[in-house]
Amino acid sequence: MSEHAGRARFAAIIEADEKVEPRDWMPDEYRANLIRQMAQHAHSEVIGMQPEANWITRAPTLMRKAILIAKVQDEAGHGLYLYSAAETLGVSRDELQEMLHSGRQKYSSIFNYPTLSWADVGAIGWLVDGAAIVNQIVLQGTSYGPYSRAMVKICKEESFHARQGYSIMMALVEGSDEQKAMAQDAIDRWWWPALMMFGPHDAESSHSERSMAWKIKRIKNDDLRQMFVDQTVPQAHYLGLTIPDPDLEFDEETGHWRIGEIDWDEFWRTIKGDGPLNRERIAHKVKAWEDGRWVREAATEYARKQRARLGKSA
Ligand code: 3HC
Repeated sequence: MSEHAGRARFAAIIEADEKVEPRDWMPDEYRANLIRQMAQHAHSEVIGMQPEANWITRAPTLMRKAILIAKVQDEAGHGLYLYSAAETLGVSRDELQEMLHSGRQKYSSIFNYPTLSWADVGAIGWLVDGAAIVNQIVLQGTSYGPYSRAMVKICKEESFHARQGYSIMMALVEGSDEQKAMAQDAIDRWWWPALMMFGPHDAESSHSERSMAWKIKRIKNDDLRQMFVDQTVPQAHYLGLTIPDPDLEFDEETGHWRIGEIDWDEFWRTIKGDGPLNRERIAHKVKAWEDGRWVREAATEYARKQRARLGKSA
């Protein structure tokens, strides 16, 4: 197909709100933007296992331990699902890992914060997965077919993640004064970093305009953030917890909760690698990748020998 015909067909697909598939012609910039975002999404899922895994051996009951193990395993699966979807764009998983390890690709800033108490596991499920759900529900409508379909499966599991987190927070606020204080301490530390998950203000977003035009992104950063705030503030009030924002105010006219200004210095410092645990998270990830090299090599060699053997007998 000539580039001219390809561009026309791509524009028609986007216009008609249909899905761009791996074999369709697409602009190089569209492909590059998708690889960037999908890889970052996948990296976030994998690195995101570290904060919660820290509490698997310390969970307060066997049931909580089993739930947390299931959630962390889900995140691994989400990462593998998204790497597979990204590979349909012509990039290999090994390339993506190398770009993550070398800092040329990012992962969500939220996972650079420490999990200091069991309440953090609740706050992560409730706030972090809650924010991810707001984002990912909308991403089901993204224009790239494999990414859109991956979101459908992932969103089904995310709702369990958010509910188990909220259930932990409920147990804590209904517990002793110390436990309620743990829950308040957790929201104090996780509230603002969760708002940063939606990215910079749209005016500072380097990708939003084109991502919206290509229908990669369907709702802009600030609007998604507002959706999350509006749904979460009442949940915090139901728990009897205080949102750590003295400027938080309900706007009767718009029906939205107005928040104070996010600490964008902290945001950019963290995504540039100078957050609380950036170095530890990447060092742990690199070690896991290197420790698992022999398994990947053995599996690849076994598959090669199988193909050779079947090739002979075919
Ligand atoms: N953490 C790290 N980097 C961030 C960020 C964050 N919270 N928010 C924005 N950035 C980066 C962007 O990647 C971009 O940098 P780059 O050009 O080097 O990639 C820069 O800041 C400018 O931001 P933009 O808003 O212009 O970038 P996007 O258009 O990509 O929007 C986004 C950012 C809204 C996060 C979008 O990438 C997105 O929707 N990604 C898919 C969802 C996702 O990745 N969620 C992360 C969490 S996954 C998760 O929580 C799993 C759950 O199971 C726990």
